Amino acid sequence: MNKDEIKSRAVFASKFAAVATTVGSAVGLGNIWRFPYEAGVHGGGAFVLCYIAFVLLIGVPVLYSEFFIGSVTGSNVFGAYRKLAPRGHWQLTGYIGIVASLMILSFYSVVAGWTLEYSVESALGQLDFIESEVGDGQFVTLTTEWRPVVWTVIVLAFNTFILLRGVTKGIERASNILMPALFLLLIAFCINSFTMPKFGEGVRFLLEPDFSAITPGVLLGAMGQAFFSLSLGLGCMMTYASYFKKDTNIGKTAITTAMLDTSVAVLAGIIIFPAVFSFGLSPQAGPTLVFEVLPYIFSQLHGGMVWSTLFFLLLFLASITSTVSMSEISISFFMEEKRMSRRRATLVSSAIALAGGLLCALSFGPMSEVKLAGMTAFNLFDYVSSNICLPVGGFICSVFAGWVVRRSYLREHFAVYGAKGRVMMCILMVFLRWICPAAIVLIFLNSIGVL
Ligand code: TRP
Repeated sequence: MNKDEIKSRAVFASKFAAVATTVGSAVGLGNIWRFPYEAGVHGGGAFVLCYIAFVLLIGVPVLYSEFFIGSVTGSNVFGAYRKLAPRGHWQLTGYIGIVASLMILSFYSVVAGWTLEYSVESALGQLDFIESEVGDGQFVTLTTEWRPVVWTVIVLAFNTFILLRGVTKGIERASNILMPALFLLLIAFCINSFTMPKFGEGVRFLLEPDFSAITPGVLLGAMGQAFFSLSLGLGCMMTYASYFKKDTNIGKTAITTAMLDTSVAVLAGIIIFPAVFSFGLSPQAGPTLVFEVLPYIFSQLHGGMVWSTLFFLLLFLASITSTVSMSEISISFFMEEKRMSRRRATLVSSAIALAGGLLCALSFGPMSEVKLAGMTAFNLFDYVSSNICLPVGGFICSVFAGWVVRRSYLREHFAVYGAKGRVMMCILMVFLRWICPAAIVLIFLNSIGVL
């Protein structure tokens, strides 16, 4: 590997920044919007149990391998696979990463647009808390027709602005401050949740698994969610790890990221479900769930308007630290493989996301009848990327790190942990070689009815 090539790339300033940025990527709408709605649709406790199992069994090992591959090569996804295995065609996996990350960016920007709109509407005192009716309340008026298009464009413009300022300045600074602030606010709302009349019912729905409810759909959904929430499978974490300082402790970073990410999701569940039951709503509302429920919660609080503005603003900012990380996959590819300037690479990736974003934004309004396989553009992008592309990308990454990467690289890497290193490496290898690939394949087969 060429040392100068590595040196000339950006590097995160500190170890704290490495954790803050990876947590910034992981924590976002996936935890606070997608997790509760997926859990609601898939029956609550059973889904949550599978989700946590997948985070531990598949998420942490794959996260480790992405970190390892990224930091040892210091490259974008294509470069990373190529450097470690010059003769295979492993780098082609990078294309899955690029296509799927742009798909995710498309629908994700629409949801980030909702959060920004909610925040602005609350600040202006126009979010009408009390009278909203589920199904045809304000969520519908806010998100149908052309309005989401405007907000999606604003989100992508904001994202582009941060990306143009570069990795270290833009991404790092934002993550260092925003993530802790959001976490504190979530804890405050969680405490408030205790006062909900149906607190017990909500928490039971979330945490009490009904094993008979574990269907192939639940397993696939939970696996997709684990990948989505940890930003895995597309080389996003690999790209970030390529910016790590050389002495970053990958094991600690992986475990801290997984723990914080999972706690944010569970906190979000504890905030949402007691409210869902207390206000007589349905947990099965799908992607709109959180946006229908939260205004009810804020309407019960003193100074609800202020809480609501603050919460949606922080959620918006948390989603920007995630959109930035998704964009970085294609930007680093365009820069390093296609020799574009950072500016050009950013504009190209934003333009593609804008096209996709418009399709998704319109799929709640004028294009709600345009469907493929029974799904609108929004749902299709979400389903295909999360439930198919991410696990396939994760499978390849796991097999690559487990079977293809030269043992000497791994041994050298694990030597930094001292005596514990050997044991850690053996355990990780069992997961990467056998457990992760087998689990992913079994869940796929199961979901298409073969098993
Ligand atoms: N993990 C982020 C969230 O939970 C979303 C995300 C960021 C992502 N980068 C990614 C998902 C890369 C898949 C791949 O909000």
